[in-house]
Amino acid sequence: MIDRQLARFNRLDLLGAPTALEKLNRLSAWAGRDIYVKRDDCTPLALGGNKLRKLEYLAADALSKDADTLVTAGAIQSNHVRQTAALAARLGLGCVALLENPIGTDSVNYLSNGNRLLLELFDAKVELVDNLDNADEQLQALAVRLHASGRKPYIVPIGGSNALGALGYVRAGLELAEQITQSGQTFAGVVLASGSAGTHSGLAVALAEALPALPVIGVTVSRTDEAQRPKVQGLAERTAELLGVRLPEHFNVQLWDEYFAPRYGEPNAGTLAAIRLLAAQEGLLLDPVYTGKAMAGLLDGIARQRFDDGPLIFLHTGGAPALFAYPEVWSD
Ligand SMILES: Cc1ncc(COP(=O)(O)O)c(C=O)c1O
Repeated sequence: MIDRQLARFNRLDLLGAPTALEKLNRLSAWAGRDIYVKRDDCTPLALGGNKLRKLEYLAADALSKDADTLVTAGAIQSNHVRQTAALAARLGLGCVALLENPIGTDSVNYLSNGNRLLLELFDAKVELVDNLDNADEQLQALAVRLHASGRKPYIVPIGGSNALGALGYVRAGLELAEQITQSGQTFAGVVLASGSAGTHSGLAVALAEALPALPVIGVTVSRTDEAQRPKVQGLAERTAELLGVRLPEHFNVQLWDEYFAPRYGEPNAGTLAAIRLLAAQEGLLLDPVYTGKAMAGLLDGIARQRFDDGPLIFLHTGGAPALFAYPEVWSD
């Protein structure tokens, strides 16, 4: 049902092939539980990550509207802005980004290395702003300015997280459901980082239909359960509406909010331990803002028996370029 609805939408095929679902053998032995990873960190553009899936739909829309500039916003170390800027370069479009410094740091690496360095290479134009508290209005105002100077801007919302962008993760959810079915195993849950919510909402919409018994657990990276829940639920509803389907009765948003402290963009001891563990056990790179926190949640969830029996899936959404923005967190 959802797959037929999805097929009606314009999409640029940027992914090429499904991302791999791999077992993490040494981590599984260490944790006493089979853990698989869905490798969306390996999407094929500019060091990978989850945003390419959303941009397949958003950029198709931009091109259909004859846009010549992608306009977006995020943190100085935003992976989303990096992937949007890279795609703009690849499509021959301009890219203008509003960037904020959400942790108020003056660290040279945060301000100029990692994702921020890559924006220079992709030739994105950057405007620093005090905050993005009214991001939609701020992006709208920027688009008006660009329009007045003769450009044709297309607004990509923060994180690519509107209903159209979330279709990328509806598609990913169907892709994952097929991989799970082919594996012949019954998984106890999928764990992912939940931020601007498009990834979580899209995945949950698809899996609620395709594998209704499979829990989809979003580990929040910036908000309490109370603050994140309406974002995920609301976007899931808007995504279902765009698709022309109803959310199933059993649809429910699952969030774990114990792992994001002290705040967005700042790792805690559990984040760093998870990054070190995955690097040392598997040669797999997590990041200090999203996937390190989500993996800390998954590992703690195993330790505290928060899952039913069965193997687990970690959706690796990327982000490793931000490691180079935070070198000082590793000094004891
Ligand atoms: C590496 C990484 N993981 C997870 C997320 C969260 O995805 P979403 O914003 O769709 O919730 C992001 C968003 O920027 C990200 O960069």
